[in-house]
Amino acid sequence: MILLPASEFTLDELTLAYNQSRIDYLIPMPMNPDRLNEYITLYDVDLHSSRVAVIGETIVGLGMLGRRQDQGWVTRLGVLPEGRRQGIGRAILIDLLHQAAQSDLPEVWLEVIKGNQPALELFRRYDFQQTRELIVARRPPRAVANAAALLAARKIDYLQHDEVIDLHCARRERMNWLNAVDSMRNVRRLAAASVGSDPYDGVPLHQLPHLSGLLVEFHDGSRGWVTYLATTLELKRVSVEVSYGPPDVVTACLLELLHRHHAAQDAVVENIPDDVRWRGFQRAGYFEVFRRIEMVRPAESVSYPSAFSP
Ligand SMILES: CC(C)(COP(=O)(O)OP(=O)(O)OC[C@H]1O[C@@H](n2cnc3c(N)ncnc32)[C@H](O)[C@@H]1OP(=O)(O)O)[C@@H](O)C(=O)NCCC(=O)NCCS
Repeated sequence: MILLPASEFTLDELTLAYNQSRIDYLIPMPMNPDRLNEYITLYDVDLHSSRVAVIGETIVGLGMLGRRQDQGWVTRLGVLPEGRRQGIGRAILIDLLHQAAQSDLPEVWLEVIKGNQPALELFRRYDFQQTRELIVARRPPRAVANAAALLAARKIDYLQHDEVIDLHCARRERMNWLNAVDSMRNVRRLAAASVGSDPYDGVPLHQLPHLSGLLVEFHDGSRGWVTYLATTLELKRVSVEVSYGPPDVVTACLLELLHRHHAAQDAVVENIPDDVRWRGFQRAGYFEVFRRIEMVRPAESVSYPSAFSP
């Protein structure tokens, strides 16, 4: 078995290998090459540091590494069912950790679906520690019959992409990789990713994907904002911040205002912490689809496992 940089493979090959490694996955999440390309762009995946495991001419597994500032992120790790329990997953993970160390990324993060025991065992063995549970939730389209949030709002500002980014930059809370400000900034690069050009090249500003938002002050002094990426059928990257006031009530009001404007779209929110704000999402009609466990391998985990030897 040899490990090769993922940059030596086409998106079609990587997508096929990924889908085959997840054929029996807890939650079916098949990819296509466009979606994988978006994923790579949004989450700063570095294909040169990512790895594909090959035996003969057959791909048997893969794993990817995201890079931001001094942090790494392990993602898309998977071994084809017939290759499992032979040390391949371990070998890919160890190599990704070496890539992270060589790139001065002492801290490495990842998420694993709750209940995925093989992966949890593997990550624990290599010093990953659980930080928190994160929820992936959806809200089917439905009209908002309740005008309470509208009546409670004193002032609503409608935000443009750059204003949304400024709000995300000012956040004090540590966001999960998917919802960090870098992911939000990368939304603009999606247009470029789809045509394979440099960021924004030749794409008119009004045609670039952009985040929108509502910044709301309520009569009782509560304040907060909700930001999102609107597509024809779906609201994605929904993100809520409560600046002042009871977090569950303000979250529910912000979401109700959002969904008044976008009653026809499905909404998805990924990796939100399981805290009091989640109750606000539930009040606004969101339901849990599944949970992920966020894990970190702290910088002080200096005991790098030795490289895989066949
Ligand atoms: C998780 C996964 C990558 C492990 O790959 P693998 O090649 O089978 O794992 P390895 O043979 O290298 O095992 C390394 C260690 O992981 C743990 N492990 C792997 N499979 C396990 C299982 N079925 N049950 C319990 N522990 C397991 C063990 O600690 C194992 O060490 P050991 O063999 O000394 O006991 C593989 O099961 C997989 O692709 N699953 C589907 C996709 C997936 O879950 N990806 C992770 C998403 S975050």
